[in-house]
Amino acid sequence: MSITALLAPTSIFLDLAKISETPLLVYQPVEVAAQYQLLTKALPYVEHHFAIKSLPSAAAIKTIRDLDGYFDIATNGEIDLLRDAQVNPEHCIHTHPIKRLQDINYALDYGVKHFIVENPAEILKFRGFGERVVLILRVAFENNLAACNLSAKFGCAQADCRDLIQLAQSLNLTIGGISFHVGSQMPSSKVHQEAINWANNLYLELQEEGIFFSLLDIGGGFPARYTSQDIDLVTFLAEIKLPLDRFHHNFPDCRILSEPGRCLAAPALSLITQIVGKKYKNGQTWYYIDDGVYGSFSGVIYDHQRHIVAPLINSTAHCYSSVIAGPTCDSIDIIDDQAILPDMEIGDYLITHNIGAYSMATATDFNFVPRAKLLVFGQ
Ligand SMILES: Cc1ncc(COP(=O)(O)O)c(C=O)c1O
Repeated sequence: MSITALLAPTSIFLDLAKISETPLLVYQPVEVAAQYQLLTKALPYVEHHFAIKSLPSAAAIKTIRDLDGYFDIATNGEIDLLRDAQVNPEHCIHTHPIKRLQDINYALDYGVKHFIVENPAEILKFRGFGERVVLILRVAFENNLAACNLSAKFGCAQADCRDLIQLAQSLNLTIGGISFHVGSQMPSSKVHQEAINWANNLYLELQEEGIFFSLLDIGGGFPARYTSQDIDLVTFLAEIKLPLDRFHHNFPDCRILSEPGRCLAAPALSLITQIVGKKYKNGQTWYYIDDGVYGSFSGVIYDHQRHIVAPLINSTAHCYSSVIAGPTCDSIDIIDDQAILPDMEIGDYLITHNIGAYSMATATDFNFVPRAKLLVFGQ
């Protein structure tokens, strides 16, 4: 796939809005391909496993598959998507720390071998699986920098690693290595660097004790660029490359895996919405649109995300602080109470770029408001 293919210009979004009902999510494969190739170029020895949960769409899976990419699976539904796309199961890891036995078997039947664990009961579920599985131990890295903390629910204490490794060994199970997810939408590379350095030291210590790991999984958390305040991905990757180079030098035979979701998914989707209502209240204009926080803007609630909603047709008119609200009857359904917009009318179109991550993935049918349709633009 060529990433030099043109991205959709405004006129295309306008044409799409006119021929298709809104709300409309436009998926651009070139955006995902460009981001994936950027990851691969910046960290060539890392196998980047696309976290499907961030954008569980067949189109996104096809884009990554066609780049010979890798996948991070969390559920049986995600396995079904991969099976439909005939993805090589050897390119997949199962990263849900808590699985039912039938989930483990479902993944094994597909051909997945690598599973994340983080507590004794989960390790015990693999008793008897022997060499059919390689376990990866997820360690928590608490920090208060991430937009979404992913160590509150999962990850063993660093001090518990050795006991869990011993437990697995006593059951004739292989621990392939350590994984962590230091948190989603990290504002800097600091915690990733610390975690990689910590893993490097642990692997050196374990090597002295005769324990050799075959992989290190550095998780996700690579940032998307929602605003110019967010660290740019190239800088972020260059910074984590320093400790990774050291690790790679010390352990040249160790595979290094990552699980990026947001940085691949966010730029993949643009959302076209339409104004369906308008009123004035307390000095602000309120615009009611046909998608909201129970739909494609779910990230406002679940992901602490502020999305930029702009007129689809550029305007040079004076702009005002306005409120943009969604279509449901719930008062929480407010997308932005300080949107900067010109005076607009019912029927006008709005556009939100960079809305691919954890948006359609967590949208609901609340109030029977139809979810946005997904349209693929380009190949
Ligand atoms: C286990 C796991 N891996 C990867 C990801 C993707 O993280 P991000 O979107 O921050 O890259 C997540 C996000 O929830 C996750 O839970």
